[in-house]
Amino acid sequence: MGTTDSLGLALSGAGADSAHRYEQALHQLQCYMGDPVATIDAAIAERPDFAMGHVLHAWLNLLGTEPAALPVARQDLARLMGLACTPRERTHGQAIAAWLDGRWRDAARLLEDLSLEHPRDALALQAGHVLDFYLGDARMLRDRLARALPAWSPAMPGYHALLGMQAFGLEETGAYGRAEAQGRAALELEPRDAWAHHAVAHVMEMQGRTQEGIAWMRERQSDWAEDNFFAVHNWWHRALYHLDLGEIDQVLALFDGPVFGGRSTLALDLVDASALLWRLQLRGVALGGRWHEVAERWLSFADTAYYAFNDAHAMMAFVGDGRVEAQQTLLAAQARAMAGQGDNAGFTREVGAPLVQAIQAFGAGEWRRTAELLRPLRGIAQRFGGSHAQRDLIDLTLIEAALRDGQQALARGLAAERVDAKPASPSARELLRRAG
Ligand SMILES: [Fe+2]
Repeated sequence: MGTTDSLGLALSGAGADSAHRYEQALHQLQCYMGDPVATIDAAIAERPDFAMGHVLHAWLNLLGTEPAALPVARQDLARLMGLACTPRERTHGQAIAAWLDGRWRDAARLLEDLSLEHPRDALALQAGHVLDFYLGDARMLRDRLARALPAWSPAMPGYHALLGMQAFGLEETGAYGRAEAQGRAALELEPRDAWAHHAVAHVMEMQGRTQEGIAWMRERQSDWAEDNFFAVHNWWHRALYHLDLGEIDQVLALFDGPVFGGRSTLALDLVDASALLWRLQLRGVALGGRWHEVAERWLSFADTAYYAFNDAHAMMAFVGDGRVEAQQTLLAAQARAMAGQGDNAGFTREVGAPLVQAIQAFGAGEWRRTAELLRPLRGIAQRFGGSHAQRDLIDLTLIEAALRDGQQALARGLAAERVDAKPASPSARELLRRAG
């Protein structure tokens, strides 16, 4: 009998110590805390033939959409291919290969089939969940978990992560009550589950429960903010609440502090930095050169066109900082991406490219063109991934463009939508007032 994890799944090539470290690394990934890469590195050092060790290492290098991490994941895959594997472990390898090949949907589908066969493989569920997020597949964000849950019970290690992921999927499909209940239940089991915390933060964002949201973040800050590689995004959520209240000083302090004070070079963190500054810019807030450092860090991504959602956020920084050359580089890279194979060609063609053009047009003061480019995107923007809260930036830009172009009826309609969704939101009411 070979080594298994604590839920009975075979771990080829593992010993008891490396299996323990694997579960520790998985727990770190589930909570987004600590350094799961270092933990799994130690497991692989102990047991170089540990298949799931290489699998987890590869996923950790893929899940952040970092082009620079792709060679590492490729190396992990090559090592995995040379090892004795179970069919489950081989399917992980196929999914990793599909993503490396630009076939994001195939990767998600392979993991879907794996989870039908092995619903207790928490890593397959999480990698699939993250892919669903990048694919903008709200239904699968929810249902991937609903399918697996009957094979789980609350006493099993990692159960909190399933609830936390399901909470986010429920939120993205508009089932706010259940989303909040599942998120809170996850945190009862594991208060440090930063994804579950984040799911509840999303519910409060979507419902305009701003004060409650701030309290939610503040009261649990030591659980989600310390030694956590998802903390920047949760800080960004906190900043959104303050933005809704018009507390611009607080937003700027959060930007200068936990959102961008660490000067992260990671795409996921830079997305938050861009998304926050763009929202401030839409409001006409003086940013005092803050774009500069953000744009500097996006430069290394300008030529990659790896993921259209990231491209749009890079373009915000290039426009905000007046980087004409970087804008051209990004546009050329997107043109290449659209002519190429892989799912990002579609993400870019359908959403990324027109959005990037709209961001440029807004920067150039071409309000009418901005609105024309953005209006057809509203209904399909989920196709390049992200959350409702992140894609709200498209609506906000459209409303601002409509207001500045004198399209009062359009602005009034869009602002009325916002007030309907978030009756207590001061910023939604302000937009409605401006629309006259
Ligand atoms: Fe979020």
